[in-house]
Parts: sequence; C-alpha cells; structure tokens
Amino acid sequence: MIDLSTNYLGMTLKNPLVCSASPLSANLENLALMEESGAAAVVLHSLFEEQIDLEGADLNRFLDVGTESFPEATSHLPDMADYNLGVEGYLEYLREAKALLKIPVIASLNGHTPGGWLKFAREMEAAGADALELNVDFLPTDPARDSLSIESELVDLVKTLRAQIAIPFAVKLSPFITAPVAFAARLVEAGANGLVLFNRFYQPDFDLEHLNVVPTLRLSTPQELQLRLHWTAILFGQVHADIAVTGGVHSGLDVLKVMMAGGRVAMTTSSLYKFGIEHLAVILQEMTAWLHVHEYESIRQMQGSMSMRRVAHPDRFVRVNYLKMLRTYALRT
Ligand SMILES: Cc1cc2nc3c(=O)[nH]c(=O)nc-3n(C[C@H](O)[C@H](O)[C@H](O)COP(=O)(O)O)c2cc1C
Repeated sequence: MIDLSTNYLGMTLKNPLVCSASPLSANLENLALMEESGAAAVVLHSLFEEQIDLEGADLNRFLDVGTESFPEATSHLPDMADYNLGVEGYLEYLREAKALLKIPVIASLNGHTPGGWLKFAREMEAAGADALELNVDFLPTDPARDSLSIESELVDLVKTLRAQIAIPFAVKLSPFITAPVAFAARLVEAGANGLVLFNRFYQPDFDLEHLNVVPTLRLSTPQELQLRLHWTAILFGQVHADIAVTGGVHSGLDVLKVMMAGGRVAMTTSSLYKFGIEHLAVILQEMTAWLHVHEYESIRQMQGSMSMRRVAHPDRFVRVNYLKMLRTYALRT
C-alpha cells in the first residue's frame, strides 16, 4: 500500500487532492460526491467582503456598478442569490457540510481591505470550519498605489485575520506580484499557514455589437499548471507555509508534478466542470498507478524533489532553465 497522505494547514489528509472553491461546492449532493470520489478535503465557495459589508439592496447596487465598470471584479459574483445564500445562509450551509462529510471542510473568504468583515472568520470557525482560505485577489487600478502599499495592506489584513481565529488559514494569491518570495515571507510572518498558488484572472471581453464589456469565464487547461509549478518550486523551503496549487490540475500526473515541485496539496475545479465530479477518482487512480510503477512508498517521499532547493546553484536555477529552453528550441530550427 502506498501512503498517499499529506499534511496541509495542520490537517493530515488521506491524499493530496482537494476540490477548490467554486459553485460546485455550494451543493450538498456535490460535496457528498466529491468525498465519495476520493477528495481529501473541500474548499467551499467564497463568501465575499462585499456581501458581508453590504447586504440586500446595497449589494445589488454595488454589483450593477461593478458590472458596468469593472466586470472582472465581479466575475465571481454572477448571481449572488444562486451563488450563495448570504451571510447567515453561508454559516448554515457550512454546518450542514460539516455534519455531512468526514473529510475536512475549508471555508473561503474573499476580500482585500482590512475591515469589520473579517470578524466573520470567527463565525466560520465557530460553525466548524477546519481551516480557512482567504482569497485576496483584486485588480490594482489606482496609479497612486504602488506595490509596497498594496502588499502592506494585504499583510495587515492577514494580521487582522490571525488575531480573529485560532484555526489555520491559507492565502490565495494572484500571480501578479512584484517579488512573490518576499511577499510570501511577509504573509507567513503575519500569520498565514499556507499559500494557494494562484488565482486565475477572469479577463473580460468586449462585445462589439452592444459595445459592452462582458465577463468571461473560461475553464483552465493543463498548460496553466506550469506557472504554478515554477513558483511552487521556488517557494518550497524558502517560506514556512504549506503550498497548495490551484490552476491547471487536470490529471494524476499533474498532481504528482505539484508534489515534486513542493506542494502539499493539488486543487482542482475546471477538470470537474469538464469531466464531472467523478473525475476525481480517475485522477487518483492515475496518480496511484504511476506511483506503483515507479516504486514509491509514499507521497511525502517526493514532496519538493524537483524544487529549487534540490539544485546545486539555486540562484542560477531560473536563468539556467531559461537558457536551456532557448537552446533546445534553437536546436529544433
Ligand atoms: C465557476 C468558478 C467559480 C469560482 N469561484 C471561486 C470562489 O468563489 N472563490 C475562489 O477563491 N475561487 C473561485 N474559483 C477559482 C477556483 O477555485 C480555482 O482556483 C481556479 O478555477 C483554478 O483552478 P482550476 O484550473 O482547477 O479551475 C472559481 C472558479 C470557477 C471556474
């Protein structure tokens, strides 16, 4: 028997496959199927800062304004009535999910300004969340705000969250960060236990007929994994945080790559939309078959084996890989 277990946010998970936040988690039948198909944990759909701060009519007004000017900011919020049940409804759903499942349930908060809404994390903890995920993605559009000021605000937010709850939490990051390793280290120092790499940016499109900006949501492809592997391999061992990878995990081999880069868990959503929730079992089966053939005894054995730490000159790791890639490409022509 191969030991597939891994540690993430203070939990021992039976394997490294986790369902990331999406409307799929907003349905109890889906959650049951995720568990049955082998998921080691689930992240619930997000509750948004705007939902906590502005309820009812105020929230609807905010969404209308957002759709006209910043569709990307509200692309996670297509129809809040369907998407989630508001603040109290979210807590009730969390309790039901906890009662239903044996696997850990991670609640998700989505926002970026340090404010009263963060107190809600305490209620998520009280409702039984095993851990939290804080999604801090937003679009910096103000020319007066430089990266340091934005990052410092996010660090303050993490400190505030740490002061609110005792359960572990991870921060879900955007890939567009000036110096990701230094920023990650600041987040960990502020109290984050994990980092989730990376949010996907839902780039709006233009409708030329109606001259509208339309939010678009395309599911990921496995090619998107490479950016995540790259940064996981660089961060592994440099920050004391559990790394989760989200974005482009579609197969068992993708999960194994995440492990070798240094991830503790690999999360998936797009693959479940494409192939159904049962696809989790296919991913696990492929992963286990590979481990058998290559005579691994455990997942832990491989975690970080392809990370930057394992190379002789980490400082040259990125440049050398870049030059190697250019050379192989040049040889082909
Ligand atoms: C329809 C949909 C809704 C999503 N909703 C959320 C959300 O509420 N909160 C969040 O943090 N991420 C959300 N995500 C992002 C996913 O959790 C995940 O990070 C992203 O899709 C990349 O993983 P994938 O390549 O496996 O899809 C959503 C993704 C999709 C496709």
